[in-house]
Amino acid sequence: ETIDLNGNLILPGFLDMHVHLRQPGFEAKETIETGTAAAARGGFTTVACMPNTRPVLDSPELIRYVYEKTAQEGSCTVLPYGAITKGELGEELTDIAGLKAAGVIGITDDGVGVQSSSLMREAMRTAAALDLPVVIHSEDEDLAKDGCMNEGVVSKRLGLPGIPGLAESAMIARDILLAEDTGAHLHVCHISDAASVELVRHAKSRGLKVTTEVTPHHLLLTEAIIDQTDASDANMKVNPPIRTEKDRLACLQGLLDGTIDMVATDHAPHTEEEKQRPFQTAPFGFVGLEIAFPLLYTELVQTGHLPLHELVKKFTVNPAQVFKLDRGSLTVGKVADLTVVDLDTERTITGEELKTKGRNTPFMGKTVQGWSVLTINQGRITYQGK
Ligand code: NCD
Ligand code: ZN
Ligand code: ZN
Ligand code: ZN
Repeated sequence: ETIDLNGNLILPGFLDMHVHLRQPGFEAKETIETGTAAAARGGFTTVACMPNTRPVLDSPELIRYVYEKTAQEGSCTVLPYGAITKGELGEELTDIAGLKAAGVIGITDDGVGVQSSSLMREAMRTAAALDLPVVIHSEDEDLAKDGCMNEGVVSKRLGLPGIPGLAESAMIARDILLAEDTGAHLHVCHISDAASVELVRHAKSRGLKVTTEVTPHHLLLTEAIIDQTDASDANMKVNPPIRTEKDRLACLQGLLDGTIDMVATDHAPHTEEEKQRPFQTAPFGFVGLEIAFPLLYTELVQTGHLPLHELVKKFTVNPAQVFKLDRGSLTVGKVADLTVVDLDTERTITGEELKTKGRNTPFMGKTVQGWSVLTINQGRITYQGK
């Protein structure tokens, strides 16, 4: 069979090192089947999934479950993270060596925040000895309290409890010091705050093993989206919150100067019922797998803010290098992981086209270009579209 690529661009399959696939336990939000189908449509051939499922991915058996389910129903490679702590309490360390033996690619507290410094230090010591990255959500829950959006002029005007940028940066500062103390590789999730970017830049300049990722929404949006809609739409609620223009520009600068290694979506599907709740009580999170590359291609490359090859690196070779994965480039003689991107055709983001179960994105209705038309994972066609 021959496939006419019709002048489109062949790229290495994308990697997304931060997605929530929700299985086991939250199948109404997403499953491994629907989440990886969304990944394939977005041009991704590898995703790393977070352990805040029910039960939490805190044992070798549950890691094996993710691999088995993916083998049966998956449309891309799924690499699970193991939880740093057992269950949802953030109090007792998991069997990190056992998790590694079962195939985790790192340990994380994303969705199950670890606040204790001594516990995090112990986790980093163990992870460093096992050569496993420690992937941190970075939120001081005492500072974040019950905030539902960025703390600042908009939260004040709307009378809503805010999450200060300090809840993120203070935790990152602590964890950089712990990483230096223990020799662990620290990977900072979904960086969103100007002071946080500066902390990572400084840590890198001192030669520490610190890496980070940024989401499309923190690169493209500001809290103005909540201001304009008077917080009437929880599809604009995410954690960390969408912040200020200063923070957004700091993230963009970090992406440009190499402080920020990669783009990750933090794909976090929720049901429509959950997102119809009032802003203060609805869950945090956006879906992102299917629209990440087109959004950034349209908003950053087409506008001249970022060269195309730099954007591609943030989706391919960079995440592969940071997580020491033998992926992210097109190599003659190897089984193909690739995506074919049509840079020209514009399409509007609508709910009907999405393969994810989630409809929770602030980008709904936006018209963008740079959509994948063919994705191949390990030599198998996993998505073919227009
Ligand atoms: C994530 C989720 O829903 O699991 N939500 C979010 O807003 N990012 C949790 C997380 O990534 O911290
Ligand atoms: Zn998180
Ligand atoms: Zn800030
Ligand atoms: Zn997350």
